[in-house]
Amino acid sequence: MNYTKVPDLKTQLPGPKATAAIAADNDFISTSYTRGYPFVMARGTGVVAEDIDGNVFLDMTAGIAVNATGHSHPRIVKAITEAAEKFTHMSGTDFYYPVQAQLARMLSENTPGGPRRVFFCNSGAEANEGAMKLARWYTKRPYLISFRGSFHGRTYGAMSLGCSKAIHRNHFAPLVPSILHANYPYPYRAAPHLTTPEQVGADALDYIENTVLKREVQAEEVAGIFVEPIQGEGGYVVPPDNFLPGLRKLCDKHGILLIFDEVQSGMGRTGKFWAHEHFGVEADIITSAKGIASGLPLGAVIAKREIMTWPPGSHASTFGGNPIACAAAVETVKLLKEELIANTATVGAHLKAKLEEWGNGCKVVGDVRGKGLMIGVEFVKTKQGKEKDPELRNLVEQTAFKRGLLILGCGENTIRFCSSLVLKKEEADLALSLFTAAVDDAVKQLGR
Ligand SMILES: Cc1ncc(COP(=O)(O)O)c(C=O)c1O
Repeated sequence: MNYTKVPDLKTQLPGPKATAAIAADNDFISTSYTRGYPFVMARGTGVVAEDIDGNVFLDMTAGIAVNATGHSHPRIVKAITEAAEKFTHMSGTDFYYPVQAQLARMLSENTPGGPRRVFFCNSGAEANEGAMKLARWYTKRPYLISFRGSFHGRTYGAMSLGCSKAIHRNHFAPLVPSILHANYPYPYRAAPHLTTPEQVGADALDYIENTVLKREVQAEEVAGIFVEPIQGEGGYVVPPDNFLPGLRKLCDKHGILLIFDEVQSGMGRTGKFWAHEHFGVEADIITSAKGIASGLPLGAVIAKREIMTWPPGSHASTFGGNPIACAAAVETVKLLKEELIANTATVGAHLKAKLEEWGNGCKVVGDVRGKGLMIGVEFVKTKQGKEKDPELRNLVEQTAFKRGLLILGCGENTIRFCSSLVLKKEEADLALSLFTAAVDDAVKQLGR
């Protein structure tokens, strides 16, 4: 499908078909979802998404950082179709099919730090559940540490690890015990006495070493530290360069496993295969999902060989590593390696530089940050006071939609740019002009 005009808005938004679809949805679908604006998908190609009334949008969401290769990339569609024609399911837990091992080998070869074994599941939450179990099983230690602002999924273990929004936990207690939270270093919002990024990173490490491990739990009881190399749902927060290497040292000193949740930041999104590669560190365990199979449900726990030695029966999943999802993932990895990781680094740097330039002159933008196509723009009431402006951020999502741009928020007051990795420079420029106009609209409406 070729679109000659993007965006191309043909009806009032939402159009008549979208309005009817939303009414039907409201009748039958769980009320727990958080739709910010009324976009009803019909079809898409690359970074273009068309709604069911024929309105054409530029999509900077990739379905929440999932469609790594863009909507319906022809090679992914072909891989899916060919796999589906052979068989749709057999269960890798009880039978063999080569595409699972092929994908596991590709993931291992693209992970720094030696050969890995892979456990396949269906989602990011499930990958984190698997990593929690593996860390406890391998170390025979009960405790886990994770970070404030983090998001690891919605199942009980993953929800208990996460600490980004109270609503995620409200009335769901009791949670999984023996999980402690530390502060994630957030350079833009660090205490004023921490004047350099290194100090911000060192302070966060010091808190773990000298508060958590001295007052709350002894290090010998800690199985693993779960950390997002770049915090996703918490606001696209990039830690200082010394933070992950410092965590690596701390973990090595105490025999704690370092577990990178790369569900959102991985699979090429930051311009490297894994985000933690930017920081020159190696993981003991990595969790992956979202972009791994270009939109098909697949998760993975990728662990050092000597760690993933749990016995048959200790962990499994009927659907995990589904052959069609694995075929899509194999093709995704090929595309990432051939062109998309390099494209992400180049186009992401271009988009970030443009956003920074614009943000410097825009009174409601406090911070622009990110790597590759994982870029956050944080909205504030004043640059000087840095007061968060969630109302403005929420309205920007709406005004962008009205202009034909799909974007999503993260954190309390940040907009994220997490398009497909096929984004071209011209499309990035178009996103920028639609976005800045949408911000102007919102600023005017709120009288900021
Ligand atoms: C870092 C991170 N981990 C885990 C998850 C959960 O993934 P899923 O929704 O596939 O369970 C997410 C989802 O946003 C995420 O961003």
